[in-house]
Parts: sequence; C-alpha cells; structure tokens
Amino acid sequence: MAVERTLSIVKPDAVGKNVIGEILSRFEKAGLQIVAAKMLQLDDEKAGGFYAEHKERPFFKDLVEFMTSGPVVVQVLEGEGAIAKNRDLMGATNPQEAEAGTIRADFAQSIDANAVHGSDSAASAEREIAYFFSAEEICAR
Ligand code: TYD
Ligand code: MG
Repeated sequence: MAVERTLSIVKPDAVGKNVIGEILSRFEKAGLQIVAAKMLQLDDEKAGGFYAEHKERPFFKDLVEFMTSGPVVVQVLEGEGAIAKNRDLMGATNPQEAEAGTIRADFAQSIDANAVHGSDSAASAEREIAYFFSAEEICAR
C-alpha cells in the first residue's frame, strides 16, 4: 500500500475534554506519523470554507458554529494507507453508530460534536492539507 498523507482535526469538543494527547496517541500507536500540527481558533470564514462541500446541507450553520466554538488541533498524518486507516480509527460520523474502540465511540456524544475530522479521499486530503498548511510547515521524516 502506498504512503499517503491525510488531514486530521481534533475538534473543539475533544480539545475541551482535554483528550488531545489520547487521540494523537492512537494515531501514533496505529503507525501513523504526525508530520505537521498546530492549534488554532477557526473563524466563520475559515470553518465555512473548509466545509464548503456541505454548504447547502441543513446542518451547515450549526457545524460552523460548533467548529468555531473553541480551539482545534489540525495535523497532517503520514503512513501506509493513512486516509483509510485514519477513517477506521475515527469510526462512523454518528458516534452512536461508531464501532467500539474507535475515537468517536470513546470520546464523542453526538453527530454534531464528534471529536475528530479525517479526510475521506486522496483528493480531499490534498485540498484539506493545503487549506491549513504551507509546504514548509510539513516536516517529512
Ligand atoms: P461528513 O463529511 O458527512 O462526516 P465525516 O466527518 O465523518 O466525514 O460531515 C461533516 C461533519 O458535519 C460531521 O463530522 C458532523 C457534521 N454533520 C452533522 O452535524 N449532521 C449530519 O447529519 C451530518 C451528516 C454531518
Ligand atoms: Mg467528511
């Protein structure tokens, strides 16, 4: 399998619960390397642009409100099959449907505050990584 990069976000609910380290630790234990990371406070424009694909969905306004409700930690994860591996570690979008032992099953309560984001395809990963990181901010090891 090819080495890939994917964009991961620890969302405001998980930052607020003080489980940043526990979540990042799961990535490392699964063999993914953190090759870029930063904490930041999103504003409406940055969060709305990130989720532009969902602009017409009924939950969009609440999603932007949630994503701007506190700081997030964005990272670039690198490893074999990183995109699918991260989605497996995250679990289903709705924590109620997420498999036991996944990040969302363990740290999230609801679909609108579900602890983490992960890119869903190679094309999304490329766009999302470039949305948050310049080339110099990514430290390949
Ligand atoms: P989506 O890309 O479908 O899920 P994922 O994060 O698993 O890729 O949706 C983006 C975010 O939008 C999702 O993490 C939480 C929010 N959302 C809702 O609040 N309600 C919904 O019904 C859906 C589908 C998503
Ligand atoms: Mg998605």
